[in-house]
Amino acid sequence: MDTHSQSPTFFDVENSVDVVNARMSAATDPRLREIMTAVVKHLHALVREVSLTPEEWFKAIRFLTEVGHTCTEWRQEFILLSDTLGVSMLVDSINQHRPEGSTENSVLGPFYLPGAPRYPMGTNICLDGLGEPVVVSGRVTDSRGEPVAGALLDVWQTNDNGFYDVQQKGIQPEWNLRGVFETGADGRYWFRSAKPRYYPIPDDGPVGGMLKAMGRHPYRPAHLHFIISAPGYDTVVTQIFAPDCPYLEEDAVFGVKQSLVGDFRHENDPKEAARLEVANPFWTVEWNVILAPTTAA
Ligand code: BEZ
Ligand code: FE
Repeated sequence: MDTHSQSPTFFDVENSVDVVNARMSAATDPRLREIMTAVVKHLHALVREVSLTPEEWFKAIRFLTEVGHTCTEWRQEFILLSDTLGVSMLVDSINQHRPEGSTENSVLGPFYLPGAPRYPMGTNICLDGLGEPVVVSGRVTDSRGEPVAGALLDVWQTNDNGFYDVQQKGIQPEWNLRGVFETGADGRYWFRSAKPRYYPIPDDGPVGGMLKAMGRHPYRPAHLHFIISAPGYDTVVTQIFAPDCPYLEEDAVFGVKQSLVGDFRHENDPKEAARLEVANPFWTVEWNVILAPTTAA
């Protein structure tokens, strides 16, 4: 009796996706099934499209191994890889369901530190005295323009040499250019700082090597980071960008959006500078935040 009347299906180039995906158990979580089916489909398509050689695949595996080995408590090279390939911003963008006009997100980046000092309004967070002064102010409102009282603005940025305090421990004062401000009943906030400058993302690891091999620079345009939170509203992780920065349209991690380009103004007004207790000339930027109600999970 012929027990092999139907020949078995072995893996080949034409059926590779179906053969691999057919191995998945019927009990697989449906969302995991959907994602893994697509991973296999697109990975196999990529291999076929570029006719990947064994040497190239081993090079890719060595690269990913190095990315893993570069990760420490302070260095997350896989996030850098995701950021520089535009995946972080894409994942964020397709999951943004806030009403039109609400303040948009940007990348968090690896340099956020929870627990920054809470300061009274107007405090100067630039503790190393470097750079040009900037006065940052604005209002936090809901979409009807009503002020949001008690909103927390957690702010951080690089110093004038393009480094975060955590990258220069022992060189910069602790908590340099970081602080948390709370809006009052009018929803307003203001603080003093130094005008941000462009800087390179950490590029001494495999992701930096990848950028170099692709002829890409590692620079992020000058920006200030914010996390804005208030009870009942969606937390916004975002940045404001300086419009005069040469890298504005070339962010290494694709975090710039038109709505996040700040209206930085250069002021030469000794009287106003004295009133604000900053050196003249100085910069101002007024940036308003519109929060959306918390979205149901
Ligand atoms: C940042 O803006 O701090 C940042 C974002 C993504 C990667 C590296 C740094
Ligand atoms: Fe940054």
